[in-house]
Formats: sequence, structure tokens, C-alpha cells
Amino acid sequence: MPEKQENVTETPADQPAGKIIIFDTTLRDGEQCPGASMNIEEKLQMARALTALNVDVIEAGFPIASPGDFEAVKAVAEQITGRIICGLARSLEKDILRAAEALAPAGRKRIHVFCATSEVHRKFKLRKAKDQIVTMSVEAIKLAKTFTDDVEFSPEDASRTEWDFLAQVLSAVIEAGATTLNIPDTVGYAVPYEFGNLIRYLREHVKGIERTVISVHCHNDLGMAVANSLAAVRAGARQVECTINGIGERAGNASLEEVVMALKTRRDIFGAETNIVTQRIYPTSRLFSSITGINVQRNKAVVGENAFAHEAGIHQHGVLANRETYEIMRPEDVGIPASKLVLGKHSGRHAFRDRVEALGYKISDAQLDAAFDLFIRLADKKKNVYDEDIESILEAQTERIVETWKLVALQTMAGTNSMPTATVTLDKQGQQFTDAATGDGPVDAIYSAIGRITGVELKLTDYQLRAVTGGKEAQGEVTVEVDLGGRKIRARGLSTDIVEASGRAYLAAVNRALSIQNGKSQGISQP
Ligand code: KIV
Ligand code: ZN
Repeated sequence: MPEKQENVTETPADQPAGKIIIFDTTLRDGEQCPGASMNIEEKLQMARALTALNVDVIEAGFPIASPGDFEAVKAVAEQITGRIICGLARSLEKDILRAAEALAPAGRKRIHVFCATSEVHRKFKLRKAKDQIVTMSVEAIKLAKTFTDDVEFSPEDASRTEWDFLAQVLSAVIEAGATTLNIPDTVGYAVPYEFGNLIRYLREHVKGIERTVISVHCHNDLGMAVANSLAAVRAGARQVECTINGIGERAGNASLEEVVMALKTRRDIFGAETNIVTQRIYPTSRLFSSITGINVQRNKAVVGENAFAHEAGIHQHGVLANRETYEIMRPEDVGIPASKLVLGKHSGRHAFRDRVEALGYKISDAQLDAAFDLFIRLADKKKNVYDEDIESILEAQTERIVETWKLVALQTMAGTNSMPTATVTLDKQGQQFTDAATGDGPVDAIYSAIGRITGVELKLTDYQLRAVTGGKEAQGEVTVEVDLGGRKIRARGLSTDIVEASGRAYLAAVNRALSIQNGKSQGISQP
């Protein structure tokens, strides 16, 4: 990059930021996004990916929220080493005891205590006066300190709290032992200049704040979560709370990939570094999408399909001459494979393994065998197999849904003047069941037939079809969202035949619903 021109209108960072702690809350706040709930195995898979990404802190869940959440935090605490594992708790004794119990096996643990401080929360949610909020928060920190030295405090809805009261609460929790002060913009209300000034105000008015790490946690309701987080870094925040793909409550949280790449790309502005292995960003983003079935929009910064695509001829020409003309980051720096090597049915196991590794996946021999088998079957139907096809195969492999029902055969009949009909055969523990049904279209007929065989009634709330690669022989990837008693479940299906992909996606949702009903997966509930 060329030397940066001095910009006279720009205010300098208050001080070079140095190391920024990346606190990932995909497994906690991220999971609060409808349809993003994960079972324990999936959370562990994400926690391993976050470890490879090298985040500093993993907020693994909110142990009091449900038995499933407790077990997930405990499993992460038991199995993930080398990271700080964090659990959330309200300022209540039972929450803190539950968080401490779930975190007990962790080598390095943090209890994250929160208490709402804004007037609207005090009056209508907690029905408590200011002095009661201070007392609750202080007592909670003191209790959390009996389990670990590493205690974080969040004044929920901080950005809508009176600044002097905020300073009063924060001074009190520091005296009680809080080591990280997290300033949440809970409802995504702040704007960057104001949020930066709030951090500056707190640095000047909170007693003992220099002994703590200032953290920020921004929501994206006005699309400013990342901008607010970065403004806070310039004002002195040293921890940023964020999620993969910006997933989270409502419009989401600050996106990890955007925060990290902004800090890296604009080091001239922030003087900051993170420990993130940026080459793991894209594989982690894809893994999260594959586990939850929630894809990022095409034009999503850093990890979207179009983030490094140049359509206009003039741009393509510029990039070919010198990529810096239109690229401020290199795709390979965020783990997007540079070459689109094409494999075909004559490519051997070796070439396939090489490609899998080049795409950033580490899989066992058994997984490689299964993936290679799918690859050969696909290559039989499709002349050229692209990187995206291989990624879809690998992602489908990682979706460890317990396959109670397996698809054996599927046949549909549809036309302009006939009633769409589907005949479906499924296998359950070696026994085959066949049924037929009619519907508004072939996909609807398949879903009815699956419902009749499995006895699982789900309400389809979303259906998306995407071509994995270009061309008429492309694989179709179908994502469905279904409603199970008010809970959203997402699942995906993949095939060169889109009707089959539709059936596979719905069956995956049925299997996921059965796992949930059998207690293998629990959602997090709001505090
Ligand atoms: O958004 C928020 O305020 C939170 C807190 C619990 C940190 O998620
Ligand atoms: Zn939040």
C-alpha cells in the first residue's frame, strides 16, 4: 500500500491501541439469533474452530438459561484448552453458582456478570432504584470473585444509561473486583462519535478504570455495530466482543471478521493488533453457516460471495494489472482460496486430499473416505467439480445431525395439468417405509410424504435454493427453516437435482427436530 497521506481533519487515536482482545460470543449472543441454536456437538465443533482462529475469549453460553446450555458450557470448559472460557450470569446468586459449576473444568475461566442500568430497564424490567442496582451488581461481583479472579461486568443498555450513573456503577464494581468492564450498546442505539466519547468519559470518570480492561459489545440495529466498536477502540477500549458473520439478537452483533480486518487493514489509524489467524476467518464463517443453515448475504464484507468478485470490465482490468487498484485486502489473507482448481472424475484420492487441505480443512482418514465417495458420485454427474462443490461436500459432512431417518428413494410426478405427487421411501434402523402424497407442487408433495412417514409435522417458514457453482449441471443447495412449537430450525440439503436437494433439506430438519425433542439440543432463552 502507498504511504498514507496525512489527513488534517482526522483526529489522532487517543493512543496506539496495541493488542486488542477478541472476545467471541457466537455461542452465546450469536445463538440468541432465531434459527441459530446449536446442539452440544455443534457448539464443540464451533469452539474448536474458534480456537484455531485464535480468539482470546470464548463465551460458551449462559448456563442458567437451560440444561442444554449448561451442558454445552461444561463440555467446552472440559474440552477446549488454551482459551479463556466464559459463561454469562445475571447479577443473581443462582446464575453465578450455575455459571461457576459449568466453568469448573476450564483451565482459564471467566464469569461474565451483567445488570441493566438504563432508566427504562430499571423501571420496567428490574423495577429497582439506582442504589439497588449498584448493590446487586457489587454483591454479584463479590460472589463471582470467590470462583475466579477473572470477572467481567456489563451494565446492560449502557449506551442509554445516564453517564454519571454508569460511572458510579462501574467504580463500585471495580472496587468489588471486576477486572473487565464491558460497555454494551444493547439495542444498537449509539453512533460512533457518541460511543467513542462515552468511552473517553468513562476513562476520565470511573475510579480505578486504569486497572481494568475496557471492553465493548455492540449490536447492529442501525448497522453501526462494527463502526461503534472501532470508535471505542480509538477511544481506549481494548477488548471487542463480536460474533462470526455478525450473527446475534435481532440485527446481530459486531462481526468478528469485519472488526479484525478493519484493524488489520487500517493499522495506520488504529495502531492495533489482534491474535486472530486471519486465514481461518473464511473457513470458520462457512462452518458456522453450514452448522446453522444461515448463509451470509452475497455482498457481506470480508466473507460474502461477492466480497472479492470484480464484475465491471474496468475493475477486472485494473485488478489484473495490479490487484491494489480495487482490492484493499487479499482473499487469501482471510482464507478464501486463491485458485479455483477444477477436479473431475479422473482426479485421484491424492488430488482430492490436496485440494481439501488447500481449502483449509483438516479431516480424518475416515471423513476423507466418505467425502471422496461423495466427490466421485458428484463427478459422475458433473464434468467439473469446483472448490465450492468440495466445500459443500465437506460442510454437509460436518453437519452431524443424528440421522434417525435416511432417504432411500424419492420420485415425483408433476406437470401443468396434473396433480403433483411424490412417493418417498425412508429408512429407519434398517427398516424401510414408503408413502405417497399430493401437494401444491412436487416439493410440497415430498414434504407431505415425509410428514406421513415420520409422523413429524413441521411448519415450513423459509425455503431458499442456491446454485453452488455456475452452469446447468451445478449442484443445488436448499436451505429450509421450519417451526417446531415456536422454535426455528434450519437445515440444508445438497444434490445436482434440486427436487432431491429439497427433500434432503426437509428430512435433515425432521432429524434435527427429533434430536431436539429427544433432548439432545436445547436453545438459550433470553435473560
Ligand atoms: O447486549 C447485551 O447487553 C448483552 C449483555 C448480556 C452483555 O448481550
Ligand atoms: Zn448482546
